[in-house]
Amino acid sequence: MSILITGGAGYIGSHTCVELISAGYDILVVDNFSNSCAESLRRVEQITGKSIKFYEADVCDKSALRIIFSENNIDAVIHFAGYKAVGESVEKPMMYYENNLMSTVSLIDVMEKYGVRNLVFSSSATVYAGDNPMPLTEDMKLGAINPYGKTKLFIEEILRDLCSAKDNWCVALLRYFNPIGAHKSGLIGESPKGIPNNLMPYISQVAVGKLQRLNVFGDDYDTRDGTGSRDYIHVVDLAKGHVKAIQWAINNTGCEAFNLGTGKGTTVLELRNAFVQVTGMDVPYAIAPRRAGDLAEVYALPAKAKDVLGWEAELDISRMCEDAWRWQSNNPMGYEIDNTIDILK
Ligand code: UD1
Repeated sequence: MSILITGGAGYIGSHTCVELISAGYDILVVDNFSNSCAESLRRVEQITGKSIKFYEADVCDKSALRIIFSENNIDAVIHFAGYKAVGESVEKPMMYYENNLMSTVSLIDVMEKYGVRNLVFSSSATVYAGDNPMPLTEDMKLGAINPYGKTKLFIEEILRDLCSAKDNWCVALLRYFNPIGAHKSGLIGESPKGIPNNLMPYISQVAVGKLQRLNVFGDDYDTRDGTGSRDYIHVVDLAKGHVKAIQWAINNTGCEAFNLGTGKGTTVLELRNAFVQVTGMDVPYAIAPRRAGDLAEVYALPAKAKDVLGWEAELDISRMCEDAWRWQSNNPMGYEIDNTIDILK
């Protein structure tokens, strides 16, 4: 069974490559390294002991996609490739719409031409409207508030329309909650460019001394300690969810959304405190104003993924902190420093 992974060099993509290979799948990766680097794939090879076939290409480029599909016997596709920074999407909406929507439309077109109709799409909990009660279930009201979230929502709609029109397609829309942590080897992990926007990479960069202190965005929410609460999920659990979803997509038809979360909320201070306890590192923090667009709490009901896919998250917050720190402390500069070392060798 051969799976094409778009954006396979990225954070979630690289962890999914490892889990697919471990589950016995043949994989090939297409990535243009716009927000990732080839080093992550080299590390996946190191972890799995398998070499990875990869194409450096843009998924918007249909002629490149045609070459990939004609040169390989692809059974199914996992589509990760896309821009993902919320703030940047507000500043450059057209860049997000063009890249994220065009790549998906091009991919669908080429898949259809080559008779490949099983797809897993990398969606996000950000597609849910902000006024839903918690926990979130897949049938709740949708409505994203920033262009990044809207690209995820629009792509979900496109894929639903596709499956309504063509009953031989099968698409799993995976709505991720907050992926954190890293592979236990410490070889692959999240390597954000510039100052991180998300909480865990920020905490670990404070711990490693790259950033001075954590700004806690608001302490007056209606939560246990007043700070925002999220459903953090270990990236390896998330990656395993993709293995289950690809099995489902290969054996079914239709379009279904699945929440991939743990079902448990953890506040900013709880995550910071767990990190300090597990790692013994200092993470100074200050209370800062709320961040625009943030909700008090977001967490999933992951029952559908358990019932239909047979998947459930297993790793707890301590493990997420331990693994995030192993990655960060072994790679203080993310993948960047190692690229330099490679050049020097
Ligand atoms: C964010 C995005 C979401 C995206 C997801 C990808 C926003 C509004 N949402 O989710 O669309 O799919 O990342 O992982 O940007 N926090 C701090 N200090 C920080 C950073 C974060 O206090 O320096 C707090 C936030 O206020 C929030 C929690 O930590 O309560 C988690 O934030 P973050 O990691 O950015 O994730 P989300 O906002 O849930």
